[in-house]
Amino acid sequence: MLLLTGATGQVGSALLRRLTAGGQPVRCLVRDPRGLGPERVRVQLALGDLADPPSFRNALRGVKVVVHLAASGRDQPLGSVEELNGVATWRLVQAAERAGVEHFVFFSAMAASVHDRTRFLRAKALAEQAVVESGLRHTIFAPSLVFTPGDRHLRLIERLALLPVVPLPGRGRALFQPIWADDVADCVVAALGRNGDGGERYELAGPDTLTHTAVADLALRAAGRARPLVPVPEAVTRAGLRTLETMMKSKAPATWDEAELLQVSMTSRHGTADAESLGVAPRSMAAVLGAGALS
Ligand SMILES: NC(=O)c1ccc[n+]([C@@H]2O[C@H](COP(=O)([O-])OP(=O)(O)OC[C@H]3O[C@@H](n4cnc5c(N)ncnc54)[C@H](OP(=O)(O)O)[C@@H]3O)[C@@H](O)[C@H]2O)c1
Repeated sequence: MLLLTGATGQVGSALLRRLTAGGQPVRCLVRDPRGLGPERVRVQLALGDLADPPSFRNALRGVKVVVHLAASGRDQPLGSVEELNGVATWRLVQAAERAGVEHFVFFSAMAASVHDRTRFLRAKALAEQAVVESGLRHTIFAPSLVFTPGDRHLRLIERLALLPVVPLPGRGRALFQPIWADDVADCVVAALGRNGDGGERYELAGPDTLTHTAVADLALRAAGRARPLVPVPEAVTRAGLRTLETMMKSKAPATWDEAELLQVSMTSRHGTADAESLGVAPRSMAAVLGAGALS
């Protein structure tokens, strides 16, 4: 049995389709099974929450492999960014060791560092450390920006295109190597098929290195809504998004913590090499979104 957390997310749903199609028995730790769509009848369900560690024990019964994708770039009513990404991973690792799990697959993030300016990347770095220091055989994936046509980030950019100019947080100069969630899922399937007893770490990057401005521009062109992009100074973005979060709570379309993440470059010196070592040739964002070649 394989336990998948984050199965309703962009990587999780692409991965779940592949696992069930391959006949792999899967249990999904989910807050709300409706997010699984038609896949929910093909899997075992474990209702749980990253902020509710006792839910991990039941979810792990009889599990040999854990793929831990669930994460949050914003605070939630039940837990902070640090608790949901750092402490929860540490607790899941401990519970997995007790349950006799043989392979723990963890999704960190490229640029995760305890010294990073963002709470999310600091929490991911600590989580990664907990996985590495466990006695478990582990595989760590550290992706750059992950995208899926119609994902939350791209939808937000498209909605902003209802304005005559599209505001971008900060200077939009941070660099990304966007990788399609389907290509990420193929990498996970390949890693699950490998034997090993130690630890492996893969940086997952797409073939193009793009600034955040170029990513937004590409998304707008793909949606047929090309617009001028206007950088909004960080202090203004922070104040605006914090006010929005105070007013709208968890319904806020974006938070400062999420916007700040887009100020941090996520590029790998290896480029697509790690994905290719798993037999996956990541496609460009322009090709996947059907935006044509970059100018
Ligand atoms: N997307 C990127 O650009 C990017 C970049 C670097 C690293 N990563 C990492 O890659 C992994 C997969 O990313 P993704 O883009 O597929 O994520 P995603 O689409 O944002 O999905 C997040 C998943 O986590 C679940 N989740 C959130 N809070 C939870 C909680 N309190 N308890 C249980 N489940 C919870 C969500 O479930 P609900 O349906 O309940 O909300 C959803 O299934 C994550 O670990 C992420 O941090 C992503």
